[in-house]
Amino acid sequence: MAPPILVTGGTGTLGRLVVPRLREAGCDVRVLSRHSSEASDGIEFVTGDRAKGEGIDSAVEGTETIVHCAGSSKGDEDKARHLLRAASRAGAQHVVYISVVGADRIPVASRIDRAMFGYFGSKLAAERVVADSGLPWTTLRATQFHDLTYKTVRQMARLPVIPVPSGFQFQPVDTGEVAARLVELALGTPAGLVPDLAGPRVYAMDELVRGYVRARRKHRLILPVRLPGEAARAFRAGANLAPDRAVGHRTWEDFLAAQVGSPSDD
Ligand SMILES: NC(=O)c1ccc[n+]([C@@H]2O[C@H](COP(=O)([O-])OP(=O)(O)OC[C@H]3O[C@@H](n4cnc5c(N)ncnc54)[C@H](OP(=O)(O)O)[C@@H]3O)[C@@H](O)[C@H]2O)c1
Repeated sequence: MAPPILVTGGTGTLGRLVVPRLREAGCDVRVLSRHSSEASDGIEFVTGDRAKGEGIDSAVEGTETIVHCAGSSKGDEDKARHLLRAASRAGAQHVVYISVVGADRIPVASRIDRAMFGYFGSKLAAERVVADSGLPWTTLRATQFHDLTYKTVRQMARLPVIPVPSGFQFQPVDTGEVAARLVELALGTPAGLVPDLAGPRVYAMDELVRGYVRARRKHRLILPVRLPGEAARAFRAGANLAPDRAVGHRTWEDFLAAQVGSPSDD
């Protein structure tokens, strides 16, 4: 029997969509999570915390392929290091990592860059941990998921006057399409850094906010603000976009229409 594929972050927004697609492809799956869950239908759960290095050896034991989806807003390189060291000891054959478009183009140098955009520096550092691990690897950079974009604009729209960084654009992509691509990569051979995956269209950030406000029939004032720092300047220059890789299909409008008024929407 083929060994299980380990999905770190298999309980998260992306990982939750990776796991059933691996099952559909006939793979047994092991999920690493900080919270325990009962095994079900070819999916086992290992409790562990990458930040503390706990449970990682048990999670990687007997796996050949690891899809590394676990992530947080900071410190991902240290957490990746714990995982990759354990994976090396266990003799893993393929690590698939999900990173973000712009990780290599958004400079995180000053304190102000780190405070607002440290996530990008941390993703780049984690990419390097994966590439330098000595294990065969594949890294996919994706643009912001529709789910994250939605969560962001929904939070922003709680304010009566919404400050929106001027000149910022996004190219949101469907999380399910990212999951499908990760599964394809996990079932293939290690490929290094593969072409980016980006959504079908680029939107100004105020356009995304206005679209949400309109769909929810709210009335809000939008206040453009100019963010300081080099990372913000790179954002204004479109460093977080991949217009030549607009290969995603599901549009933001389609996603928004499905969310607004759904039972999970408030
Ligand atoms: N969201 C985006 O727009 C976007 C775009 C490009 C790339 N990405 C990358 O895609 C990945 C998944 O993003 P997401 O939006 O699905 O994240 P998410 O919904 O916040 O899920 C994060 C996952 O990471 C796990 N996790 C966090 N800290 C952990 C720790 N210390 N030990 C073990 N597990 C831990 C969580 O598991 P438990 O809570 O169960 O422990 C959860 O399953 C991240 O690497 C992110 O950087 C995201």
